Amino acid sequence: MTWIGGVDIGGTKCAVTIGKALADTVDVVAKFKFPTPGTPQEALRAIMDAMAGLLAEHPQVSLQAIGISCGGPLDSRSGLVLSPPNLPGWDGIDVVSPLLERFAVPVGLQNDANACALAEWKWGAGRGTRNMIFLTFGTGMGAGLILDGRLYAGTNDMAGEVGHMRMENDGPVGYGKAGSFEGYCSGGGIAQLGKQQAREALLRGEALSFCESEEALDSLTTQRIGEAASGGDPLALEIFRVVGEKLGRGLAILVDVLNPERIVIGSIYGRQQAILEPIVMKTLSEEALPYSLRACSIVPAGLGEAVGDLASLSVAYNLVEPA
Ligand code: BGC
Ligand code: NA
Repeated sequence: MTWIGGVDIGGTKCAVTIGKALADTVDVVAKFKFPTPGTPQEALRAIMDAMAGLLAEHPQVSLQAIGISCGGPLDSRSGLVLSPPNLPGWDGIDVVSPLLERFAVPVGLQNDANACALAEWKWGAGRGTRNMIFLTFGTGMGAGLILDGRLYAGTNDMAGEVGHMRMENDGPVGYGKAGSFEGYCSGGGIAQLGKQQAREALLRGEALSFCESEEALDSLTTQRIGEAASGGDPLALEIFRVVGEKLGRGLAILVDVLNPERIVIGSIYGRQQAILEPIVMKTLSEEALPYSLRACSIVPAGLGEAVGDLASLSVAYNLVEPA
């Protein structure tokens, strides 16, 4: 049994977790979540205080390692976060040294999508596979690649930055690029697409179930559009059809290039699987090589919404028990 700590640094929330891991299961023993503070320095202080607080409340815990999961770009070797698109102001921030100094255990940093891939591979929907891809499909779009039975992070931790791939010449902006995979397939992207389509519908004089007026456009969220789609709203369904088609195209590229055995998709896919899956599978069957597609299953995260918490723990576990 291994006691591990996890730190998840996200664009909107941070989470600090303590877990008890075995080779194929993990228990979250304690967890504290809070809105990401304004500056990296404040965030690091809050993270360390939260970890110290949880450890004080659980004296039986003797921590063996801490894992940090954060959006990229980042440098796992030097422990630096390098201005991720969803964490403005975090440029060249050393997140590893402060934790090392304060807790005196090995501390590892990993791209959030890579960390989720490790968690799903060890404890979730990727168990038993050798070639598996995890796609975040949440606030951002990133991939974690398990290839030939180990995490593939690339030459400088940039493998799997699929959110930057171009899907169209123009379109919603994600990863600083209009028409990118993250532009279409992420929470922010769906909201942009929704606002644009809702504005056009309102201008045509159509009544919308999920957005009453032009003033309401600004506060339109992906969640609201998703609920409307589940309720059968035709425009919301059309928005998700576009998203599903782009997701299918992105998946087809990954299937063609990497020939994976399984692709596990997080967050929004799990919540909207009923609507997205048929569109994604149709697009895949049109776009991907049949031999590769036949070998690959596409599934939602097995750890469900917990994958984020377990991601940072899996980075810590990987330090103690390398795959
Ligand atoms: C970041 C990736 C990250 C993904 C998911 C992207 O914007 O650049 O590194 O994996 O979002 O959070
Ligand atoms: Na990645």
